[in-house]
Amino acid sequence: MKLFQPLSIRSMTLPNRLVVPAMVTRLSGEDGFVNEDIRNRYLRFAKGGAGLVVLEAMAVHGSKSGPLLRISSDEFMPGLRDLCTDMHTIGPGKVVPQIIHFLKIARSGWRQKVEDLSIADIRTIRDEYAAAAERSVRCGFDGVELHMAHAYTLSSFLSRLNKRRDGYGGTLECRLRLPVEVVQAVRAAVGDQFPIGVRFDGEECIKGGYTLAESQLIAYRLVQSGVDYVSISAGGKFEDAQPRAGEPLYPYTGYSGDRCMPGKTWPDGANRYLPAGIKTFLRKQGVATPVVATGKINTPELAEEILAAGDADLIGMARPLLADPDWPRKVQGGHFDKVIRCCYANVCKARDEHFQTVACFLWPKGSKQAPESDDTVPPQWDRQLTASTAQGRVSLKWSAATDNEEVYGYDIWRAVEGGEFERIDAIPAPVTAYHDTATISGLGYRYFVQAYDLAGNRSERSIVVEATV
Ligand SMILES: Cc1cc2nc3c(=O)[nH]c(=O)nc-3n(C[C@H](O)[C@H](O)[C@H](O)COP(=O)(O)O)c2cc1C
Repeated sequence: MKLFQPLSIRSMTLPNRLVVPAMVTRLSGEDGFVNEDIRNRYLRFAKGGAGLVVLEAMAVHGSKSGPLLRISSDEFMPGLRDLCTDMHTIGPGKVVPQIIHFLKIARSGWRQKVEDLSIADIRTIRDEYAAAAERSVRCGFDGVELHMAHAYTLSSFLSRLNKRRDGYGGTLECRLRLPVEVVQAVRAAVGDQFPIGVRFDGEECIKGGYTLAESQLIAYRLVQSGVDYVSISAGGKFEDAQPRAGEPLYPYTGYSGDRCMPGKTWPDGANRYLPAGIKTFLRKQGVATPVVATGKINTPELAEEILAAGDADLIGMARPLLADPDWPRKVQGGHFDKVIRCCYANVCKARDEHFQTVACFLWPKGSKQAPESDDTVPPQWDRQLTASTAQGRVSLKWSAATDNEEVYGYDIWRAVEGGEFERIDAIPAPVTAYHDTATISGLGYRYFVQAYDLAGNRSERSIVVEATV
């Protein structure tokens, strides 16, 4: 599989094409130091076998925020260095921190904008990025990723809504000026060999925001400035965030937030056209820089198809690898059938919003980390399943499975009108019921359910039941 072929990016060689994109954990304290919970989270990702693990966004500056890692001064280095060393020891992949600058926001709804920054502020931001990147070298990281996506400072400079009139806003060239200066300052600080990645939005997904037409040019300009890979995200902006009384704006609550972390109702690979369009443009300019695609990519087939089509060089999987950090190892061993599969309930996102430990909806209640087990005995059950219909929905009920360890959850599979079965959702045990509301009359539906345990061992399939609404 192409997915498990190595890829070299300047001085680092990734053992495979799977990336854990940055994902804030809310496991750190407000002090910003690496603690035991953070270590456990990332050692687990490393052990799972991803080719590249991007450590969650960590601040380059000292501004107050909720729980967030920091790399804004040397005092944070020992924890980061130990984490990096241990990740290298326990797993095959490379490790880079994502470094971020964000502007101030208040519970009142006020937020600082790029138009409020003085030239001195802008120079400070550039220098803070360079200093943080240089610390990344000293920590032993394999590279550094600059956060230029979503609602944060450099993304707001890139935005079409950046209305500065002083050479740092307005036209595309001027909107790119600070991001380019940051890349150049970072390159000067880290030297020729150290890989620099950038994460930015392929589309802002807000009214008046930029789209692929400009993000192709942004990618090209950043690469010309010294960037070694581009990781393409989408949306996640303040401009369309939903205000909630007494709470600071969370930039993933509007439409652009849905586009950033597409939930259940979005098709798989929802943002694929963005890395594809950017990669096509870069290649036309004779640029071979690797492109990372992310956004509801969740099966080996889809990942492989994206790579084979040339739509990306690397596959980012955030929520799927949160659900099961062992996804890479299991799939490489030919065992996708043992993967605990994300159901895009976006509970992780909701927890991030409320500064609660980011955990997966499917994990056993109260867990801070994904469960681990090397048990090989699958759950047992009587395979009984019933379907009933009312008011346009299909309700499934099944009898509970049993397991020598613990029944962890159930996958729901559906086939429409004689088509192939697709896994449409997952339900954590002990729930043994499911309502399918995405059905229409005039079509026949068939369902089966499969139980899985902590190791991902699947039970036999339930009987197949048929329904029409
Ligand atoms: C809880 C959570 C935290 C995230 N934190 C970050 C972050 O720190 N930096 C970033 O660039 N993206 C962040 N993201 C976005 C993910 O990296 C990813 O782009 C998004 O979840 C879509 O990919 P997926 O469908 O594979 O989950 C976060 C996503 C989630 C769910």
